Amino acid sequence: MQLQVMNSPFNQEQADLLNRLLPTLTESQKVWLTGYLAASQSIAATTGTEQQLVAPTAAPSVAPVVEQTISKEVTILYGSQTGNAQGLAENAGKTLEGRGFDVTVASMNDFKPNNLKKLHNLLIVVSTHGEGDPPDNALSFHEFLHGRRAPKLENLRYSVLSLGDSSYEFFCQTGKEFDQKLEELGGTRLNDRVDCDLDFDEPAAEWLEGVIAGLSQAQAGGTEAVLPTTAVAQETDTVYSRTNPFRAEVLENINLNGRGSNKETRHLELSLEGSGLTFEPGDSLGVYPENDPTLVDRLINELNLNPTEEVQINKQGESRSVKEALTTNFEITVLTKALLEKASAFLKNNDLKELLANDEKVKEYIDGRDMLDLVSDFGPWNGSAQDFISILRKLPSRLYSIASSLSANEEEVHLTIGAVRYEAHGRERNGVCSILCADRLQPGDTLPVYIQHNQNFKLPENPDTPIIMVGPGTGIAPFRSFIQEREEQGAEGKSWLFFGDQHFVTDFLYQTEWQNWLKDGVLTRMDVAFSRDTDEKVYVQNRMLENSKELFEWLQEGAAFYICGDEKKMAHDVHNTLLDIIEKEGGMSREDAEKYLSDMQQQKRYQRDVY
Ligand SMILES: Cc1cc2nc3c(=O)[nH]c(=O)nc-3n(C[C@H](O)[C@H](O)[C@H](O)COP(=O)(O)OP(=O)(O)OC[C@H]3O[C@@H](n4cnc5c(N)ncnc54)[C@H](O)[C@@H]3O)c2cc1C
Ligand SMILES: NC(=O)c1ccc[n+]([C@@H]2O[C@H](COP(=O)([O-])OP(=O)(O)OC[C@H]3O[C@@H](n4cnc5c(N)ncnc54)[C@H](OP(=O)(O)O)[C@@H]3O)[C@@H](O)[C@H]2O)c1
Ligand SMILES: Cc1cc2nc3c(=O)[nH]c(=O)nc-3n(C[C@H](O)[C@H](O)[C@H](O)COP(=O)(O)O)c2cc1C
Repeated sequence: MQLQVMNSPFNQEQADLLNRLLPTLTESQKVWLTGYLAASQSIAATTGTEQQLVAPTAAPSVAPVVEQTISKEVTILYGSQTGNAQGLAENAGKTLEGRGFDVTVASMNDFKPNNLKKLHNLLIVVSTHGEGDPPDNALSFHEFLHGRRAPKLENLRYSVLSLGDSSYEFFCQTGKEFDQKLEELGGTRLNDRVDCDLDFDEPAAEWLEGVIAGLSQAQAGGTEAVLPTTAVAQETDTVYSRTNPFRAEVLENINLNGRGSNKETRHLELSLEGSGLTFEPGDSLGVYPENDPTLVDRLINELNLNPTEEVQINKQGESRSVKEALTTNFEITVLTKALLEKASAFLKNNDLKELLANDEKVKEYIDGRDMLDLVSDFGPWNGSAQDFISILRKLPSRLYSIASSLSANEEEVHLTIGAVRYEAHGRERNGVCSILCADRLQPGDTLPVYIQHNQNFKLPENPDTPIIMVGPGTGIAPFRSFIQEREEQGAEGKSWLFFGDQHFVTDFLYQTEWQNWLKDGVLTRMDVAFSRDTDEKVYVQNRMLENSKELFEWLQEGAAFYICGDEKKMAHDVHNTLLDIIEKEGGMSREDAEKYLSDMQQQKRYQRDVY
């Protein structure tokens, strides 16, 4: 088709230039140019630098250059353990729908990998768990993509948003793996991967803008223009959210452990009255803590700063005193290599520089040390108060599995919090949030909280479905919520609890509640393992093995199996014991037992809430 610019907004000189240029362009050059112009317009519209540039207001005077329509379908797959990636994926879906795309948002678990080849635009939003591992609902898709059956994906355009925590050794590992694998399979990035730390809102919004620009670039060659909007929507279902927490009043704060226990586990009851916040059993509560004021004072002293000096705490220019900022806004108890590097510019210490040259030594140094150690080991601090603030991460919230049911305790939320106290490098150390709750929080005080919905840890929809719950220590929390809920529902399904802790006498958390539920038949079975009451340790998995025949029968009847609590050891050991039981009682090979368990996971009958 011969292109001629006529009746255009261009002057004669521009029209002549275009009429000379256009006939010389190849098809791919035309596609590139169209996309280039649309993308720059879209970015301008998104950032608000220019008004309403994308949607054409008059019929184009240049004949359409591309016959081919690039798909408006976008698939967003998320892998999420505690709900962050899922929330971002769902928000991205809503934003893209608002821009005129046909969007499908799904958990990786619910996506049929055979459909991968049919996709044109794929967005992956995924977190990392364990030690560089995919979240549970990303496991099978991750395995498929990294296996031999993964298809070639030359027609796929994709982008990855990865969530993580830079204090972990394998930061955003899963996102990195997906990104690399999709490239190896022939996919083309429509926007570069963005790796987000715990403070993910801003980088996630920037990633989405890049994605929209990338999609619009190709889309502009199609028949329909992409509608601009001025902001990336961050929709929430209530006024209060992670970014706008509700100050919940403490109604009760008691120690569940008896005198003489090695442990301290706080039972916290908070009021949600007036918040409009709702949750379901299996959800978690996010809590924004404050740093220990004694530690803050010692740090300010070591830095030789004036505690009342005002510092800016965010890009919006909000300011407060150094003391307030270090108490409420910034993390001072975790060191990372990146932080040491930034601090090094102001500490100007050769030993620190030497340390930074050796990764192994850095790993060893940061383990169990905090900012106070860093400044006292390598000080003096040669920067300003603002310099110090500028190198710190925002103080992240802590999640707690909700231990109550809203139907049983209206407008309340209960938590079960294990106090984290230990000694390292000659100093007593306190967990920031758990020790705030244990030592400084009184009834009548308030805590900033939000609900973290977790679709990956839910009671079966059918109340008749049997459930098996394994929750040693604070892992008991969500199961109190489950059973409260089932009691309220009058659910008929059988339920079986495995609980363990150190000593029967001092550490049987919520003992009378469990015994009453057992007596009333709300709980069908309970097996307990008190690890330090006998010469040889007994753990919940020993109890599972002792009852392996019956446990397998429950699974065969369709029971859902839940694990909550320690991720590092317990959850792995219980997982392996479960495989042993399936193998033995089901007369299966290890491979078949693994398939059995992964099918259970696929059917949402194997769920974990581990930390
Ligand atoms: C989905 C989810 C649900 C959770 N539910 C619960 C719950 O119901 N109850 C509960 O108590 N917790 C729960 N947690 C854990 C909780 O979020 C916090 O991580 C925990 O309370 C510790 O926070 P903190 O601020 O007190 O400690 P932090 O200040 O965060 O310190 C904890 C860190 O201290 C270090 N540390 C701890 N012990 C030692 C030691 N002995 N030696 C050296 N270093 C050590 C480790 O690096 C550890 O990560 C949950 C976590 C998640 C992700
Ligand atoms: N990531 C974090 O920041 C963070 C913070 C707080 C707690 N946690 C984790 O959360 C867990 C819960 O803490 P908690 O104090 O409530 O309980 P816990 O320490 O898990 O202890 C509960 C019971 O589990 C037993 N246990 C230990 N190892 C086990 C294993 N491999 N398999 C099965 N049972 C095992 C313990 O026995 P013994 O103690 O006698 O061995 C105890 O009887 C902690 O283990 C901790 O790792 C993590
Ligand atoms: C038990 C546990 C292990 C984690 N392991 C890692 C890790 O190895 N690497 C990393 O970058 N982030 C790690 N994280 C941080 C999470 O990726 C981060 O909190 C993320 O925002 C969670 O997103 P999700 O809610 O979608 O799962 C871990 C978090 C938890 C609770």
